[in-house]
Amino acid sequence: MRILLVGHGGREAALAWRIAQSPTLTSLTVAGVNPGWPQLATLRLAQTTNEIADLAVEIGADLVIVGPEAPLAAGAADELASRGIPCFGPKAAAARLEASKSFAKEIMAEAGVPTAAAVLVDRMDPASVADGRARCDRGMVVIKADGLAAGKGVIVCHTAEQAHAGLEELWGDRFGASADRLVLEDLLIGPEVSLFALCDGTRAVALPSSQDHKTLLEGGEGPNTGGMGAYTPCPLVDAELGRSLVQSVHQKVVDVMAARGTPFRGLLYAGLMMTADGPKVLEFNVRFGDPECQPLMSLWTSDILPWLHGAAIGELPKGQPEFSEGSACCVVLASAGYPLSSDKGRAIPEPDAMPGVEVFLAGTQRSEDGVLRTNGGRVLGITGLGGDIGVARANAYAALPHWFFEGAQHRKDIGNQAL
Ligand code: AMP
Ligand code: GLY
Repeated sequence: MRILLVGHGGREAALAWRIAQSPTLTSLTVAGVNPGWPQLATLRLAQTTNEIADLAVEIGADLVIVGPEAPLAAGAADELASRGIPCFGPKAAAARLEASKSFAKEIMAEAGVPTAAAVLVDRMDPASVADGRARCDRGMVVIKADGLAAGKGVIVCHTAEQAHAGLEELWGDRFGASADRLVLEDLLIGPEVSLFALCDGTRAVALPSSQDHKTLLEGGEGPNTGGMGAYTPCPLVDAELGRSLVQSVHQKVVDVMAARGTPFRGLLYAGLMMTADGPKVLEFNVRFGDPECQPLMSLWTSDILPWLHGAAIGELPKGQPEFSEGSACCVVLASAGYPLSSDKGRAIPEPDAMPGVEVFLAGTQRSEDGVLRTNGGRVLGITGLGGDIGVARANAYAALPHWFFEGAQHRKDIGNQAL
């Protein structure tokens, strides 16, 4: 199979690494700069949906795999479909599950998927704004910008004061039209689990659960980030519970989307909170999580391409993909200043490969002098493998100091909840 992979972060580095080992791969073209691409990959640049589709046609791609959400929300899969090329990732109408939080709420209600009670607020409608302010008065609310906000449009508020300040923040200059509509959701309590399913428009197939660590600092302190580390599988959702949750969440969403004539093909990511009242969905994403993808790809043992291609063409293979028995744990090394800003240009040591460790490059570039340097917020995903989470975690943390660059930040508690 001739593959075009879109994106350039740590998630895509892990996808490319796994794809490079596929026995059915003919060629791999990558549309984005990452010094960590496998040697066999060919770099070409393409950003807009048209550029992506043109490149796919030019190289005769059998499948385009889109890593991030933005090109999907912009219609990359639609443009590829019009050129007859299968895309792993939904068309824009189905990508709205991530691109609009109010749309996700509507689908969850229709599908009977458990989620937090919510009030929808339209900034242009005074009655609805009054409802929203009344909800803020009660505190214990999570305020979410309706549109894509790079993971930054969610404010968790315990008190009424925090909630009113949150409204002002989202309606300030920073968020623009993405916050014209808001979802005000009851604040739930419990550990979070990421649960992914491969979907082909009619069927949803569960992948092993994982757990992200969203805050910058240990123990849930500090600002939210894209994710400072993740491990898989997560003991809170073992394989059996995972399959049953995928039936009661992902499969129901797939059914509703099919009935609406906007089938979901690609990766459906449910962010779950395991509350005292049972698992509830906090959000959907329409792509692999970053960094959850890094440990997941590290454990994936089947040929991945028939699965991604099958999802794209509406015919997933029978059964389930296979994963190794053990665990994987990815610890992110981030630049100084992240997540507010990111220091760039720091030299990154490149130690020899270590057993039980895969390192996926993210915000990096190779300068003209040949030195690998930092070039973004999340820089490296140091991923340890092992027979259990204890060994996987220990391998990741043993490798970490060998990769330290100036100002590097990391969390010391990735995977602790599973021990
Ligand atoms: P989201 O982008 O909707 O997943 O929200 C980002 C983060 O905000 C989640 O990972 C949770 O940590 C937190 N969050 C979102 N919704 C809720 C909720 N209803 N209750 C508690 N925390 C939430
Ligand atoms: N790791 C969270 C996300 O990818 O949205």
